[in-house]
Amino acid sequence: MLSTSLLSALSFSAFACVAKAATPAYSIVEPTQGAVVSLDTATVIEWNTTESSSSKVSFYLETTDNSTDLYTIASKISNSGSISWSPPSSISAGTDYIVVLQPADSDTEYKSDAFTISASSNSTTYYPTEGEEIETGETAIVTWKVDSNVTSVSIYLMEGTDTSDLKNVSTITTDIANSGDVAFVLSTSIASGDDYLFAIVDTKDPSSVKYSSTFTIVNDSASKSSSSSSGSSSSSGTSSSSSSSSTTSSGSDSTSTSAGARALVSLQWLVGLFLVALLF
Ligand SMILES: *[C@@H]1O[C@H](CO)[C@@H](O)[C@H](O)[C@H]1NC(C)=O
Ligand SMILES: *[C@@H]1O[C@H](CO)[C@@H](O)[C@H](O)[C@H]1NC(C)=O
Ligand SMILES: *[C@@H]1O[C@H](CO)[C@@H](O)[C@H](O)[C@H]1NC(C)=O
Ligand SMILES: *[C@@H]1O[C@H](CO)[C@@H](O)[C@H](O)[C@H]1NC(C)=O
Ligand SMILES: *[C@@H]1O[C@H](CO)[C@@H](O)[C@H](O)[C@H]1NC(C)=O
Ligand SMILES: *[C@@H]1O[C@H](CO)[C@@H](O)[C@H](O)[C@H]1NC(C)=O
Repeated sequence: MLSTSLLSALSFSAFACVAKAATPAYSIVEPTQGAVVSLDTATVIEWNTTESSSSKVSFYLETTDNSTDLYTIASKISNSGSISWSPPSSISAGTDYIVVLQPADSDTEYKSDAFTISASSNSTTYYPTEGEEIETGETAIVTWKVDSNVTSVSIYLMEGTDTSDLKNVSTITTDIANSGDVAFVLSTSIASGDDYLFAIVDTKDPSSVKYSSTFTIVNDSASKSSSSSSGSSSSSGTSSSSSSSSTTSSGSDSTSTSAGARALVSLQWLVGLFLVALLF
């Protein structure tokens, strides 16, 4: 009796160990199931990872029923957790597209849920849109119209209702290629408010400034881990821009946590094996 219940307790804990150890090294969070992304419009590709941020990963576009690499989204970039991507107009609009993540040091592939790529609408939407909510600690994108005579820009978070009297709240990124979009994570040190906007400043001519629409920041980060970094690489059909940049805006380091979690899992295995040895 005792040994039976001990055994079942043991097999239960062994099962729990297997479940924990099976946490995938990568999982694609965005695009989400059924998401619609437009050609020539920046969208976010975001993934969870237990691997170090110095690992290299590649991203490909496939469909659910065709595993041919239809388009290489990014090749051997750093494992930052997110990038922004504009599907080029050479891709056909359609449903059943998936993003495939391929780590440089492994043959395992990680696939996103299926999403739709739609033809670009004629009116370009710039992000954030008026009144859009951006949460601190989450990946977001800002997009802007590219003037071909501007080669690099810096982006600042401003607050206020009158563009002649804005408060300069935070630096998002400086001196990046003028690609028209960048992904970033807003620091959790930024307070909630509904009168924020981004200033996109020509690095060579700081008097030349574009402003985004006014948007809302929600600082709701109490329950979330604030560690994240993000990069952007984009390429688009007509405007000859192709760039990559990254901004990191928060404190704790996710790799140390996941290494800790892995150590815990192997410790549980050891304890489990030890108990099994005692039993027999
Ligand atoms: C990614 O991580 C977040 C936070 O840890 C979690 O809430 C979410 O469920 C994870 N998503 C996937 C697809 O694993
Ligand atoms: C998969 O896509 C490639 C590239 O578009 C195409 O040449 C091939 O015929 C497709 N295969 C199937 C089974 O649809
Ligand atoms: C965009 O505008 C062009 C010319 O104005 C038109 O020919 C084309 O059909 C429009 N495309 C869409 C998707 O509305
Ligand atoms: C770039 O062109 C825009 C309008 O086409 C002009 O307003 C701006 O001053 C120019 N910037 C530079 C650095 O020449
Ligand atoms: C915001 O502040 C930073 C440094 O404090 C400065 O370099 C930058 O030019 C300012 N941006 C604007 C748009 O005033
Ligand atoms: C943002 O939220 C976090 C977590 O709730 C809190 O610690 C921080 O003080 C907030 N920051 C501001 C500026 O309100």
